[in-house]
Amino acid sequence: MAAANFKVLRGLLPIAFLAVFVAGDAPKLLNKSELDELVNQGKRVVANFVQDNCPKCATFGPEFLKAASKLVDDKDVEFVLVKDKDVHIRHGVSTTPSILYFREKTPILFTDEMKADHIVNFVQNSQSAFTKSLTDDSFEHLTQAATGATTGDWLVLFLDHNQEESLMLIPTLEAAAEVLKNKVNVATVDVIQEPFLAERFEVDETPSGALTVTFGRGLPAYSKPLFHCFRLGRMYGFHLPQFDVSSVVSFATGWYKNSRAIPVAVPKSPFYRKESDEWAGFEQDLTLDSILAFIAEEEAAKGGTTVNTKEKL
Ligand SMILES: *[C@@H]1O[C@H](CO)[C@@H](O)[C@H](O)[C@H]1NC(C)=O
Repeated sequence: MAAANFKVLRGLLPIAFLAVFVAGDAPKLLNKSELDELVNQGKRVVANFVQDNCPKCATFGPEFLKAASKLVDDKDVEFVLVKDKDVHIRHGVSTTPSILYFREKTPILFTDEMKADHIVNFVQNSQSAFTKSLTDDSFEHLTQAATGATTGDWLVLFLDHNQEESLMLIPTLEAAAEVLKNKVNVATVDVIQEPFLAERFEVDETPSGALTVTFGRGLPAYSKPLFHCFRLGRMYGFHLPQFDVSSVVSFATGWYKNSRAIPVAVPKSPFYRKESDEWAGFEQDLTLDSILAFIAEEEAAKGGTTVNTKEKL
């Protein structure tokens, strides 16, 4: 009887083996365009950055495979391998193996112990981006930086998303933002897309592509990565000599006090904005300015004295 059972068991073994094999489907090696495509589809992608002749990569391989097989039922997440050196550089990966996790197209660097269980937790707990993106329109409302009626402390990185040098910083910034979660808000401002913020904080793009800031006269010009820490109506500009998770975290949680605090530049007035090309056509809108202009015209039409609205203001 026992022998017969054993026979049945033996018959089932290859099937069980096959099931395990399918579940642990080996992560595919992707090139640059394949990775981009997957990320741009909005998939969550866990990418193991490896290279040849890397003993640590070989040791880590089975752990990565184990993490992949534990999450095999999550159809929105893909585990992949990336060897292409250009892709490593583009995402600021300097050591192998390294894991980047793309969610909502935003990569975050994995900094925990390289063990399957840690990776699984990380993938499940970090499903959306930690860094906010601030715009000309949302900055003041969200940060309340100038009023000091604070929504908490903000660490803001000024960058240009069209530049590789800027994109390289994102995975590390994201990892720092995760550590700073519930303590300091972390955000980026794209200085090209948000010209008013760039001007307000005097962040310029130099021809070399480096971002610099000058706070009026007598203060140093920074080269990127440029951070501003906004706290209680003051801001602290800082150029990190070293861009890694612990440097960013320690700057945001206190080191910034070593840099000089200056009052937060106030937002430019709507009248200022009106002068710019961006706001051509603004005249048609119902604003204080257009109303005053209308009243002045009315007065003039009535034969009264010409009212100079600007002087009145
Ligand atoms: C990436 O791989 C795809 C599919 O194998 C291939 O069609 C494409 O040419 C490759 N791209 C590059 C840049 O090597």
